[in-house]
Amino acid sequence: MKQKYIRNFSIIAHIDHGKSTLADRIIENTGLVAHRDMKEQYLDNMDLERERGITIKLQTTRLVYKAKDGNEYIFNLIDTPGHVDFNYEVSRSLAACEGAVLVVDCTQGVEAQTMGNVYLAMDEDLEILPCLNKIDLASARPDETKKEIEDMIGIDAEDAPLVSAKEGIGIDGLLEKIVQVIPPPSGDENGKLKALIFDSIYDNYKGVVIYVRVFGGSVKVGDMIRLMATKKVYEVTEVGVMAPGHVPSKYLSAGDVGYICASIKEVKDARVGDTVTLDDDPTDQAMPGYKKIQSMVYCGIYPAEGEKYEPVKDALEKLQVNDAAFLFEPETSTALGFGFRCGFLGLLHMEIIVERLEREFNLSVVTTSPSVVYKVVLNDGTIKMIQNPTNLPDPAEIDHIEEPIVKADIMIPKDYVGTIMELCQKRRGKMLSMDYITTERVDLHYEMPLNEVIYDFFDALKSKTKGYGSLDYEFIRYENSNLVKLDVLLNKELVDAFSMIVHESEAYNRGRFVCEKLKEIIPMHQFEVPVQAAVGQKVIARETVKAYRKDVIAKCYGGDISRKKKLLEKQKEGKKRMRQFGKVEVPQEAFTAVLKYD
Ligand code: GTP
Repeated sequence: MKQKYIRNFSIIAHIDHGKSTLADRIIENTGLVAHRDMKEQYLDNMDLERERGITIKLQTTRLVYKAKDGNEYIFNLIDTPGHVDFNYEVSRSLAACEGAVLVVDCTQGVEAQTMGNVYLAMDEDLEILPCLNKIDLASARPDETKKEIEDMIGIDAEDAPLVSAKEGIGIDGLLEKIVQVIPPPSGDENGKLKALIFDSIYDNYKGVVIYVRVFGGSVKVGDMIRLMATKKVYEVTEVGVMAPGHVPSKYLSAGDVGYICASIKEVKDARVGDTVTLDDDPTDQAMPGYKKIQSMVYCGIYPAEGEKYEPVKDALEKLQVNDAAFLFEPETSTALGFGFRCGFLGLLHMEIIVERLEREFNLSVVTTSPSVVYKVVLNDGTIKMIQNPTNLPDPAEIDHIEEPIVKADIMIPKDYVGTIMELCQKRRGKMLSMDYITTERVDLHYEMPLNEVIYDFFDALKSKTKGYGSLDYEFIRYENSNLVKLDVLLNKELVDAFSMIVHESEAYNRGRFVCEKLKEIIPMHQFEVPVQAAVGQKVIARETVKAYRKDVIAKCYGGDISRKKKLLEKQKEGKKRMRQFGKVEVPQEAFTAVLKYD
């Protein structure tokens, strides 16, 4: 296929602006999948994605489009996720493309992640094709949205296609624009093989499957390929394209997007961002690769009562294969035993990994309080990066603690300015500036501790703005802060899994909240259970779970032994979801409930 007939592009958008729906329409209109076979959100193939209606993993597919000029074009469409936690996935997709279709919901206008994604696309030097979606709605404001795009992004939006992804309006016009505006690839087909790995998955039969964009040369079955970062060499057993399932082809050459199988056993050998070349005729220029990703949030994941360590480890390894942003290493907790310290991009990312463990692997796990990474400077000048509150050194040894600060970009309708400023203030935010995007919408810039953003800031922002607020943030620096470790004691024993680092001014409120929550959640025992929150040796809050004996078979008079057995079994089942701390039983939900603090 001549490169001039190839278009490699992504669709980028703020969450819910209609990316996945538009991808569905593009797939339908190019004739890849007949309408009756269309499941909604064709590319969102994880159940979880379909349920939550969001895209988590990027999916790539190859389409054939017969353009008005009479030629057939190959479109390699790479879907991207829209949530702020998954920016990393977005840059990965973009690096494989020449252009990006920027979807803007014209009932909402430009939002925080519209901007965030545009910056990522500009970083990759992509041609940006704006496209206004949801024109079927009465509240559509295409002219205003065009002006917002021009003013805020600085690109011409005059001829931006107007579409309704839902109703299938304007899709042909968009497809023509893709052919006209997005440049074809221009790598040297006869040069040395140079292909960028932008994703990889583990397949039980084929081993590791790597997804590549070929920038130069070509690759076919039987070639010996070298992965430049790991320097490992493999024989290619299959190459092909995603249509969207794996369809083998003879070779892949410059400009193509496809997959390579080469009996690679370990995913860590096929690093996303690495360059593939030929072993006997290698290129000397590796692709720039990707920015090293920094986990922003850490938490402990432990096998729940009755679960084993090994299956959890296996599952985490499998999840890590195609999620380069997810990290884990073994750790132990006095309260929870052997488990893992895991690093995530944000809280949604964390929730998704936990849910996938439960659904896809049928494992039940306990998670500990999420924490950001603190920079602890000791009296002797040594610096320790602490991502587990339990590892905080003795306060006597600490000179000071620094916490990560982010720059947050918050876009809201002007009526909510007061409410949101109050929310940011409560989260220790410092306002940098406020700009009017239009007469109705405002862009607030804040500096805020990441610790205050990760918990439920996004949820609070959404609920306080009736869903109209949007947020994007990036790490800027570490800053000295007055932080303390808040511990929880159950029946006078410290439960390390509940420990968290909080700002001193918040310690008391937080301590009270945690004690009240635990009192609600911990079932009555045969003895009184004191629940205490402490900073150092000082107890700052206390509640008591009253004593009570729960006798499940008390109601069963007479001799129906099988019924009694059933009830006892049921009680045992219930116990599975409990953790034992000393003599105290704590339901697993307690670990997440103490975090929902507003
Ligand atoms: P993420 O994948 O989560 O980033 O979201 P997305 O941008 O892919 O949005 P999605 O395609 O899931 O669409 C969000 C919502 O908008 C869904 O309820 C769609 O049905 C709706 N929607 C998408 N396009 C249109 C449109 O043209 N008109 C109307 N009325 N609704 C639309």
